[in-house]
Amino acid sequence: MTGTDRRVSEQVFHDRQAAERAAALRDGRIDLRFDDDDYLDHETWVRPALAKLGDLAGRRVLDYGCGHGMAAVSLARRGARVSAFDLSGGYVDECRERAAANGVSVDAVVADGEELPYGDEAFDGVWGNAVLHHLDMGRAGRELWRVMKPGGVAVFCEPWGGNPLLEFARRRLPYPGKHRTRDEQPLTRHELDPLREVFGAVEVEGYQLLGMVRRVWRGGAVVRTLDAADSLMLRACPSLKNWCRYVVLTLRKG
Ligand SMILES: C[S@@+](CC[C@H](N)C(=O)[O-])C[C@H]1O[C@@H](n2cnc3c(N)ncnc32)[C@H](O)[C@@H]1O
Repeated sequence: MTGTDRRVSEQVFHDRQAAERAAALRDGRIDLRFDDDDYLDHETWVRPALAKLGDLAGRRVLDYGCGHGMAAVSLARRGARVSAFDLSGGYVDECRERAAANGVSVDAVVADGEELPYGDEAFDGVWGNAVLHHLDMGRAGRELWRVMKPGGVAVFCEPWGGNPLLEFARRRLPYPGKHRTRDEQPLTRHELDPLREVFGAVEVEGYQLLGMVRRVWRGGAVVRTLDAADSLMLRACPSLKNWCRYVVLTLRKG
């Protein structure tokens, strides 16, 4: 499969998903307006990962693979000057409409993460959720480096593929919210090598070790207890991150 085939198939998949969301927005099943807390707490890694971008007032920040645009709006609410892009025109439309509905400014365009339409050293910060694992890491990493300012930081939250039991479940078991493109693959240590070559180092933090049980079981108090146990265990033994559902990657341009 060529890079072009992969991009076309990703675009078709996500445009179809965006069209379903547009219908849900039209008939009121979902709303463009939202509270920051709802977005920041919809998964355990989002709030701590976004905090890694630091004080954003007046900073130029890129929402990389913006999808529905909630992160772009949250970044703008923190005073950042936000650009956003996505391969799917449908999702870029939703991002623009969401920014307008929430009264913030976001410059959203259709673009490919492997060929960014921005100048060199344009951004202080880059945010991405569930996107890098759809791309060629070498090409994406080089473009990221190019558009980041010296001293800039990029934070990506990505599904992790180091746990064989979880990989079996991802491949074989049916569970709610399991919508995958043909080419996306949870990341592994080996797939971070191209990013290490470009950035020198990649900080990796794991999220949801026992807490991943929430994917099949929504028992509030038990899940909160498992999350608390995860925090303790991952602090005591960081290598357990390899068994987690998601990782937060931090890339710094020194
Ligand atoms: C799982 S969604 C995540 C969207 C959003 N970041 C979020 O948090 O919900 C993956 C997104 O990556 C986008 N995408 C996939 N390949 C891409 C590429 N080569 N360049 C830009 N965006 C891409 C898709 O269109 C989709 O919106």
